[in-house]
Amino acid sequence: MTRTQVGIVGAGPAGLTLGRLLERAGIENVIVENRSREYCEARIRAGVLEQGVVDLLRDAGVGGRMDREGIPHGGIHLQFDGERHHIPMQELTGRGIMIYGQTEVVKDLIAARIESGLPLHFEVDDVSVHDLDSERPRIRWAGGELECDVIAGCDGFHGVCRPSIPAGVLRTFEREYPFGWLGILAQVPPSMDELIYAHHERGFALLSLRSPELSRYYVQVRHDEDVDEWPDDRIWGELRTRTALDGWTLADGPVLEKLVTGMRSFVAEPMQHGRLFLAGDAAHIVPPTGAKGLNLAVHDVAVLADALVAWYRDGDASRLAGYSDACLRRVWRAEHFSYWMTTMLHRVGDDPFDLKLQLSQLRYVTTSETAARSLAENYTGLTVV
Ligand code: FAD
Ligand code: PHB
Repeated sequence: MTRTQVGIVGAGPAGLTLGRLLERAGIENVIVENRSREYCEARIRAGVLEQGVVDLLRDAGVGGRMDREGIPHGGIHLQFDGERHHIPMQELTGRGIMIYGQTEVVKDLIAARIESGLPLHFEVDDVSVHDLDSERPRIRWAGGELECDVIAGCDGFHGVCRPSIPAGVLRTFEREYPFGWLGILAQVPPSMDELIYAHHERGFALLSLRSPELSRYYVQVRHDEDVDEWPDDRIWGELRTRTALDGWTLADGPVLEKLVTGMRSFVAEPMQHGRLFLAGDAAHIVPPTGAKGLNLAVHDVAVLADALVAWYRDGDASRLAGYSDACLRRVWRAEHFSYWMTTMLHRVGDDPFDLKLQLSQLRYVTTSETAARSLAENYTGLTVV
């Protein structure tokens, strides 16, 4: 059996960022991941980084490529009722966002880890965690075992860490939405300068991007929609209808990838049990409309890394004890913001009352500077929660 200070389960944004922050603080850590490096580096997910996450990645020495290839945006557009409105977030809050794919963040973190020569085990089968209440919790997998001071459960929503917490300890809060997003990655320059969130009677659409040559577009579909029912022409037709504006056209191109994602809000409280600390999607899920999933995962591990430094360096256990409470304040703010954006922008049913409320809210956030500032403050990432 090998030993380390912090055993990390999962090499997604949470696990890899935690590994990097601990490395910088001189705290030993090992990451175990059940997928291959290629799989982890190919998964297409989030695309928007909050200012605070951009700053953190820079400070952690993994922001070089992000600064060269990422695309800073100072605002977003909200479209409804045939009109497109700009929310100038930078102007309203002094903060912006960076368009840089999660895939790229993960590639940069893996490359930095490999360069440092620290342990990162891919394709590890049958991972399980044990003795969480003891001072020597263990991670076991087919062919290996690791004794740790602390385990960080960064293994996403379907991982093994959260279900290893004894029954009755966690309280969970959940909401499922009756729709999902069909997302495409297309080889075509984006037709817009900044992201467009479009409300339409046929359903929501989002125009995003990955680079000057790659667009990332989404349409609201049923949550159990079969992707085979969506040939490329149908997707482009639906995107055009939902984002139509006089004098503007949406350019199309080859579709490189197509996937349906369901939508869920979920929180497990507390985010810790004994010596196991959950971070990122392992503890909470947001619907993607607020672009918060990846950002929250990074915030969690920043709090955890600081708490571990206080514990190892100063013998101060109070920050570790307060980890869950410290994270949950931001988590619930993001849950609310993501729920609010989702219910304001999606077609939720046929009730005209709902539609009137949505349009009223959209008009309010696009005409009142105070309301727009509130949206922008949440979207770019709150500095106080
Ligand atoms: P994950 O990225 O899920 O990483 C967990 C890691 O743990 C994975 O590498 C996984 O393979 C590994 N793992 C799982 N089980 C085990 C095990 N038993 N043993 C070892 N390792 C294990 N957010 C947005 O903001 N915008 C989006 O457009 C968006 N799209 C998304 C699309 C999909 C399909 C999904 C699932 C999520 C999406 N998200 C999006 C959310 C965002 O990607 C996540 O919030 C983010 O990935 C969270 O990072 P994480 O490290 O906590 O979890
Ligand atoms: C993305 O680019 O994938 C993206 C952007 C904004 C969101 C969700 C996803 O709200």
